[in-house]
Amino acid sequence: MSFHRNPIFSRTMTWSFVLLTNFASGQFRNLWIPDTLSGTNFNLTLKDTLAQIRPGNQTVTSAINNCSFWGPTLIFKKGDTVNLNVTNKLNDSTTLHWHGMHLPAVMDGGPHQIIPPNTTWQPYWKVTNNAATYWYHPHLHLMTMDQITKGLGGLIIVRDSIESALPLPRTYSVDDIPLVLTDRTFAALNQFTPRPYGDSMMVNGTLNPQYGIPAQVVRFRILDAAIERSYNLGFSDNRTFYVITSDGGLLNAPVGVTRYLLSAGERIEILVNCTGQAGSSVDLRAYNSVLANSIPGGENFATGPFGNALGKRDFNILHLVVGAATASGIFAIPASLTANVFPNPINADATRIITLSDSTGVPNILGPNAFIIGHKLFNPGIINNQVPINNTEIWQLSSTSFFSHPFHIHDVEFYILTRNGAVPPSYELGWKDVVLVKNGEVVRFIAKFEDYADAVHPFMYHCHISLHEDEGMMGQFVVTGTTAISKKEKTMDNGFSLQFNIETRRLFIKFSNPETKAYYVKINDALGRTKRMLPRPHLQDGIDIRGLGAGQYTVQLTYDNLQQAKPMPFTVK
Ligand code: C2O
Ligand code: CU
Ligand code: CU
Repeated sequence: MSFHRNPIFSRTMTWSFVLLTNFASGQFRNLWIPDTLSGTNFNLTLKDTLAQIRPGNQTVTSAINNCSFWGPTLIFKKGDTVNLNVTNKLNDSTTLHWHGMHLPAVMDGGPHQIIPPNTTWQPYWKVTNNAATYWYHPHLHLMTMDQITKGLGGLIIVRDSIESALPLPRTYSVDDIPLVLTDRTFAALNQFTPRPYGDSMMVNGTLNPQYGIPAQVVRFRILDAAIERSYNLGFSDNRTFYVITSDGGLLNAPVGVTRYLLSAGERIEILVNCTGQAGSSVDLRAYNSVLANSIPGGENFATGPFGNALGKRDFNILHLVVGAATASGIFAIPASLTANVFPNPINADATRIITLSDSTGVPNILGPNAFIIGHKLFNPGIINNQVPINNTEIWQLSSTSFFSHPFHIHDVEFYILTRNGAVPPSYELGWKDVVLVKNGEVVRFIAKFEDYADAVHPFMYHCHISLHEDEGMMGQFVVTGTTAISKKEKTMDNGFSLQFNIETRRLFIKFSNPETKAYYVKINDALGRTKRMLPRPHLQDGIDIRGLGAGQYTVQLTYDNLQQAKPMPFTVK
């Protein structure tokens, strides 16, 4: 993946070099910025690779497309239907989850949508999310921590007409800068060890990074992609910065703060006003020394499974060097942003109580103890909750845990009503999909479950500390309702035939009854390995089978009523 040119840096290189030599801690590296992909068709190839993260040996990583760590930033437009081709070239199965997106469960990329090696999965959906920053990452049960540690993931930027009309910085990599925060431990020969807390801070996969920004209002899109750690963000000169989004959209107005505690899975966009500050520099830092022991990152273990060099410390995240302003810069923080309409608790159809607790002594597949949700370890075969379509629900997250957990739910964006009975701080009064539930806390949120009923494919809710999730701190719900989809599987005689267009290399499935719909199509090779996974395929356009080598294949079709057709063979010459 090519590096984004940092125009500010080239302009300010001479004096910033002089400045940098004053730093005893030394050696800054230029922050890597992932390339963007936009449009409505996106090809993502997950692969194992190597990255030169530190001097010496390269680190064995996994990444997407041409990246050596992490993946491209996808730019979606609200209202567009986006088509994703996700090809797994890893040596292991995986899944790819679109964190924060509202979409059908069968497209969600949770633990049930497993993509075997050498298979292409083709989900698509209409983007209905508000403009904000989202992300995508693997979600294979028991393997999420490992696969995220290796570097798999990427950002999604959604744009919409409301956000586009505001005087906000939006020139990617110039005054609109993505920051993916995580930390890693390097074992012998520079290799990653999957651990809950790392010894070294990384931004976009860069250690000890610096970046040049213009002397104007700069927007940072910040994701906590760490396995466990929360970052108590602030600037070295204690300046006020302005939070403009929560996970799933704009706040009504910017909220000025000097610290912001960002937890695993959460995103914020902030504005930093550097107008008139050309020639200065400032550090974005984590002020984690003040965190309680019960907050992820506030623990202070020197050794053991949670031992790390950054626990309960303040440390640098990113060194920022301010250069000349750009010609079309923004120089003021807007007074207001949008007018959100959140669901009213008066209209709630149900209140659900979800407990978060310790389970000391409850063995799970990974170890002797786990944290749990709903008093149970995650069981992929059990649906924990049924939510009727179009329900507006209050979920009451009641923690009896001694530790704090960033709770995340798929399918919906929610609005936090109360924390321990009190209205949350104003920077949390926006659309959210992750909330840090502190030890012993009761958090109530409200959400509406619209559009996508499917009694088969569940959505997940879980702690976004990947270690806790893998250990079983996860549950799943289905949205029930209007569709004909119900759980009965039996094989029926095939009511379809196959046609092949040699020119376009497209395979057409023709139903004898034109009313018939497909729920799922898989194309398997002669050894039974799945090559294509097509949830709810648009069959009228045919299935693109370029890339399938010569040989025998079968079409495995599931009808909309969940009946399975007999596998239908075809040959590629
Ligand atoms: Cu970001 Cu279920 O996860
Ligand atoms: Cu998610
Ligand atoms: Cu947890």
